[in-house]
Amino acid sequence: MDTPKVVLGVSGGIAAYKACELLRRLTESGHDVRVVPTASALHFVGAATWSALSGHPVSTEVWDDVHEVPHVRIGQHADLVVVAPATADMLAKAAHGLADDLLTNTLLTARCPVVFAPAMHTEMWEHPATQENVATLRRRGAVVIEPAVGRLTGVDTGKGRLPDPGEIFEVCRRVLARGVREPDLAGRHVVVSAGGTREPLDPVRFLGNRSSGKQGYALARTAAARGARVTLVAANTGLPDPAGVDVVQVGTAVHLREAVLKAAADADAVVMAAAVADFRPETYTAGKIKKKDGKEPDPIVLVRNPDILAELSADRARADQVVVGFAAETDDVLANGRTKLRRKGCDLLVVNEVGERRTFGSEENEAVVLGADGSETPVPHGPKEALAEIVWDLVTRRLS
Ligand SMILES: Cc1cc2nc3c(=O)[nH]c(=O)nc-3n(C[C@H](O)[C@H](O)[C@H](O)COP(=O)(O)O)c2cc1C
Repeated sequence: MDTPKVVLGVSGGIAAYKACELLRRLTESGHDVRVVPTASALHFVGAATWSALSGHPVSTEVWDDVHEVPHVRIGQHADLVVVAPATADMLAKAAHGLADDLLTNTLLTARCPVVFAPAMHTEMWEHPATQENVATLRRRGAVVIEPAVGRLTGVDTGKGRLPDPGEIFEVCRRVLARGVREPDLAGRHVVVSAGGTREPLDPVRFLGNRSSGKQGYALARTAAARGARVTLVAANTGLPDPAGVDVVQVGTAVHLREAVLKAAADADAVVMAAAVADFRPETYTAGKIKKKDGKEPDPIVLVRNPDILAELSADRARADQVVVGFAAETDDVLANGRTKLRRKGCDLLVVNEVGERRTFGSEENEAVVLGADGSETPVPHGPKEALAEIVWDLVTRRLS
């Protein structure tokens, strides 16, 4: 394939400096990047920086190099346009089709996928005008990633922060790989659980498992790149928040259940990729459990944790909600998977073989996706992201 051509639109938000890092990531990974800042963006980062980092001339207006008709050409030749940060003003202009500078003209002439990474104060983001503009852009097929929550300009904190540039880069990479295909999860809300629960014994010890959360994060990232609103319920992963994803951190199975059920109330699909402990210690000791001289330790009594997957499947928040489970098996993988699918009552069960050195923590996975309709989709050994795409393909088929 030729070098992919990316237009990086930068509008006038305080986070414009973070777009320099996104630009570096894009150029260093072999993309030809043309930066199109707005006049306001140049108040934050100068044209010299964009030009030197991208290796291309930079202008904000349609009146430079008119013989090359840049207001049409740049958009027409792009494989991807990403606007980061996208100001409230830029979202409004894009939603209404205004074309009063080079970036807004480019947005109208581009026929490739378009990603907006909005960043602004919480009030601006939550304003009905902005929300309606975002809904319009999403309806037309743009991927608008949710801003992150955190420190804003000055001392304020809240939703509106530009996600980490590395994570925006991941969205761009996935959207580019999908090409002009419709973001088929646009308008959908999906919930993904990831990681492994920890069931505390005392303030310093817990019963846990080896799940890293990487498969769940791959599911969250791919769903965001396919246009979904994503809630990721993360249990003890220590991984960076994916761009455009609402992350809810939890610790135990009971916390995970609460968070998943709450988010599932208006979800189109729920994918339970987290490794949830089946049992937890019956008692929690408030002080650290001490060795007693000459005595054997007290046995640990376990009690059952709630079966979240079975509960979600039985009491669906919406009749058309798609519920997906994961089954990690160490032996008799397929037979155990089929029994589990029937017992849990979910629509799809991703069955994979695990062991001390298999799957957990690795970047790769191999699985069979069993359907309640009797279907079997083998997924060959490959990146967790590839498995995630197949899961969403199967989910979207059931949603439509
Ligand atoms: C210091 C400062 C920081 C700003 N940060 C943001 C921001 O983060 N998001 C936003 O939507 N607007 C922000 N604005 C307002 C925009 O710069 C303003 O709406 C401008 O007209 C946007 O123009 P553009 O969309 O053409 O880039 C900021 C303004 C100033 C002075």
